Amino acid sequence: MEYSCVSLLTFCMSLLCFLISTQGRWHHHHHHTKHKHHSHHDTMPEISAPPEPSIALAPEPSGPPDDENSGGSTEVFDVRKFGAIGDGVTDDTNAFKMAWDTACQVNSSSTIYVPNGFSFMIQSTIFTGPCQGGLVFQIDGTLMPPDGPEEWPKNNSKRQWLVFYRVNQMSLQGGGAIDGRGQKWWDLPCKPHKGINATTLPGPCDSPVAIRFFMSSNLTVQGLKVKDSPQFHFRFDGCQNVHVESLHITAPALSPNTDGIHIANTNGVQIYNSVISNGDDCVSIGSGCYDVDIRNLTCGPGHGISIGSLGNHNSKACVHNVTVRDSVIKVSDNGVRIKTWQGGSGAVSGIMFGNIHMISVRNPIIIDQFYCLTKDCLNQTSAVYVSDILYEGIKGTYDTRSPPMHFGCSDSVPCTNITLSDIELLPAQGDIVLDPFCWNAYGELETLTIPPVYCLREGVPRSILDNKDMDHC
Ligand SMILES: *[C@@H]1O[C@H](CO)[C@@H](O)[C@H](O)[C@H]1NC(C)=O
Ligand SMILES: *[C@@H]1O[C@H](CO)[C@@H](O)[C@H](O)[C@H]1NC(C)=O
Ligand SMILES: *[C@@H]1O[C@H](CO)[C@@H](O)[C@H](O)[C@H]1NC(C)=O
Ligand SMILES: *[C@@H]1O[C@H](CO)[C@@H](O)[C@H](O)[C@H]1NC(C)=O
Ligand SMILES: *[C@@H]1O[C@H](CO)[C@@H](O)[C@H](O)[C@H]1NC(C)=O
Ligand SMILES: *[C@@H]1O[C@H](CO)[C@@H](O)[C@H](O)[C@H]1NC(C)=O
Ligand SMILES: *[C@@H]1O[C@H](CO)[C@@H](O)[C@H](O)[C@H]1NC(C)=O
Ligand SMILES: *[C@@H]1O[C@H](CO)[C@@H](O)[C@H](O)[C@H]1NC(C)=O
Repeated sequence: MEYSCVSLLTFCMSLLCFLISTQGRWHHHHHHTKHKHHSHHDTMPEISAPPEPSIALAPEPSGPPDDENSGGSTEVFDVRKFGAIGDGVTDDTNAFKMAWDTACQVNSSSTIYVPNGFSFMIQSTIFTGPCQGGLVFQIDGTLMPPDGPEEWPKNNSKRQWLVFYRVNQMSLQGGGAIDGRGQKWWDLPCKPHKGINATTLPGPCDSPVAIRFFMSSNLTVQGLKVKDSPQFHFRFDGCQNVHVESLHITAPALSPNTDGIHIANTNGVQIYNSVISNGDDCVSIGSGCYDVDIRNLTCGPGHGISIGSLGNHNSKACVHNVTVRDSVIKVSDNGVRIKTWQGGSGAVSGIMFGNIHMISVRNPIIIDQFYCLTKDCLNQTSAVYVSDILYEGIKGTYDTRSPPMHFGCSDSVPCTNITLSDIELLPAQGDIVLDPFCWNAYGELETLTIPPVYCLREGVPRSILDNKDMDHC
């Protein structure tokens, strides 16, 4: 079966043109017979109709339908043509590599097609660019890796499964699914609480990121259902212009490190209209990210939307111009979070969290400059500077194990210019309202908040004004 969206689209467009022009002619004729003198200022079909007499079947000589139709502008490569079987057992790695290499050489846009109704098992693979033209990777079937660490080929990286490297202009899309088969990785005794007696045993613990884009640009990821990654579901690092749209990502609430989308050193990011539930951050934003726009996500269960952790191992970290808005976060360990390690440097600034609805969220609003995984982190004087953070329209309910707002900022590098506007957070259960927590946090309230915040300090502290060699990014 030779099937492609393009040919289907072309067919639909031709059919549409046909219907419109037939209808147009019919109207025309109709008007001619009934009221001959009013036939020119007429309805839409009339505008589209060619002057009579007409041969209606051919598409209009210009416009989008013709572009699609003009022949050879998009070549389609079905992975089965390269020998992929898609029975869920056979190793189809080589067929996918050949399809990639072929499509990548095409000097115009091309489509790699993964058909519906098949499950393709492929090993860890790096799809390398740059390609000659733009690419569409159309996944309508299912992709899956080998099942767990035992099945993973010894000579393959255990840190990543599918990698797109140095690719420009690509869309990974479709109505299909990507099943990371993470369970056996999550059960490794090195994972938190998976060892004997719920311990965490030492040992190599690498688990693959399902889909990684590395040093790539102008990317779209759209429509796919992605589940049960052994580790992060998506990771973008060193990328530019990333558009994520209508993804559905799921993993169990207790699956370790299964972040939905992680970005680092990446700018120009849009993440829209997606649903993510997992065992770690819904979206995590690492160092080197800026111009990030996140809208209409439904997150949870999980750990909320995080900027950080930043400044690990005394590193310099910079994140600026991030907007997160019009979203829902439910049953999560955090809502919107900024977390930095002590001893880091650099800055997080120009962050806006707006119109976010919280449902039973622990720590709905949190800045944590004492982030530490082990409890034995020493206090240090340097820190990633957090400033110009706006929270606007954050409403809903919080899990009363933690205060609804927590601003824990460094002693030597306090947070400044935190603005709260239109905040209403009520306990999810019971009626004990917890006080917001502040430590070295400076900023102001634009409106009254629920619960009231009395602990933000006014102005800018001396330590910030005096600190001339503080890193600005
Ligand atoms: C590829 O297309 C470009 C223009 O689109 C043309 O200049 C170039 O010669 C083509 N290269 C090959 C190898 O066909
Ligand atoms: C791993 O080993 C297999 C079999 O020896 C070989 O075919 C494959 O190319 C190797 N893969 C890598 C990534 O080295
Ligand atoms: C696990 O717990 C049981 C019962 O508490 C104990 O007897 C056993 O020694 C523990 N095993 C390890 C490896 O700690
Ligand atoms: C990405 O797309 C933009 C706009 O279409 C274009 O200007 C830019 O050159 C592209 N970047 C790369 C690396 O291809
Ligand atoms: C928000 O995203 C959901 C999918 O999660 C979609 O159904 C809905 O239409 C989107 N809303 C808007 C306003 O785009
Ligand atoms: C912030 O990022 C948005 C895109 O998310 C961009 O349109 C805007 O220009 C950026 N603002 C600044 C000040 O760079
Ligand atoms: C580090 O500083 C914080 C805030 O001043 C304080 O609460 C904490 O006890 C200190 N920790 C150590 C290990 O000194
Ligand atoms: C405070 O932060 C807001 C953004 O939240 C910004 O517009 C404003 O300029 C900042 N104020 C100062 C004094 O830097």
